[in-house]
Amino acid sequence: MEEDPNGKHPMSATTHIHQTHTLSHEGNGRKISVKVLRQSDPRGGSHWETFEVPYEPGMNVTTVLQRIAANPTNAEHEHSTPVAYDSCCLEEVCGACTMVINGRVRQACSALVDSLLADSPEGIELRPMTKFKVVRDLFVDRSPMFAALKRIKAWVAVDGYHDIGPGPRISPREQDEAYPLSRCMTCGCCVEACPQFNDHSTFIGPAAISQAILFNAHPTARVERDDRLAVLTGVGGIVDCGNSQNCVKVCPKDIPLTTSIAKAGRDTTLYKIRQWFGR
Ligand code: SF4
Ligand code: SF4
Ligand code: FES
Repeated sequence: MEEDPNGKHPMSATTHIHQTHTLSHEGNGRKISVKVLRQSDPRGGSHWETFEVPYEPGMNVTTVLQRIAANPTNAEHEHSTPVAYDSCCLEEVCGACTMVINGRVRQACSALVDSLLADSPEGIELRPMTKFKVVRDLFVDRSPMFAALKRIKAWVAVDGYHDIGPGPRISPREQDEAYPLSRCMTCGCCVEACPQFNDHSTFIGPAAISQAILFNAHPTARVERDDRLAVLTGVGGIVDCGNSQNCVKVCPKDIPLTTSIAKAGRDTTLYKIRQWFGR
């Protein structure tokens, strides 16, 4: 069953709207209306606050947040606080700045203001991802994703730092299959869109499933293949995937998540058959 990946962000009961979007001009300078869902701490309620940020050509959403930090005066001319958000690489590689921008989960550093305004001239709306605990404002705690990577042993095991010579050769065909999966930046877009990944489920999520497939294909990491398949076969594993395919539609790295999920389904079935026969 298909579900709208962007249709599940109800405002919390404590949310209230300060002001509707406007794109205004002040003096000669065009201003962008930026509405932010703010939360001061993990246990607090949330509220909307609007800022008007001077437009600059070529801005991205991270630049907008930097301009707010430099002058945290809101649209009602009240002195406010800088909006908290996470970021690192500023080039859509680390995944840290993922947030929901105009209803779509994506990275702030690669969200260009010109194209956002072309689609939505009334302004920009920013809110944190809903599948993770909010640390503050737009900054969420993605540690459940890293915990999932630990569960499936998303690494190539080595037994020391001594010289063990060159690793096994990986054919160009194997490289072509592995490379797209290796581009995962643990950003959280796929789990944000996944209806099965929520507070009430232990589902490991599509990113971790895909990484298990990646490492099981590596000639050295394959030594822990059955440990990964045991996790995918267990509670919160592959059977929890409802095959809605929302994840693959929102992945900014175009990772073939549903192909990985299908392969995980086949591999876990073979793993269980081998278990039954004691192999
Ligand atoms: S699979 Fe794609 S959407 Fe999911 S965490 Fe990795 S890069 Fe992000
Ligand atoms: S296909 Fe599976 S992992 Fe992807 S969004 Fe649907 S339920 Fe989630
Ligand atoms: S800062 Fe790294 S993806 Fe945006």
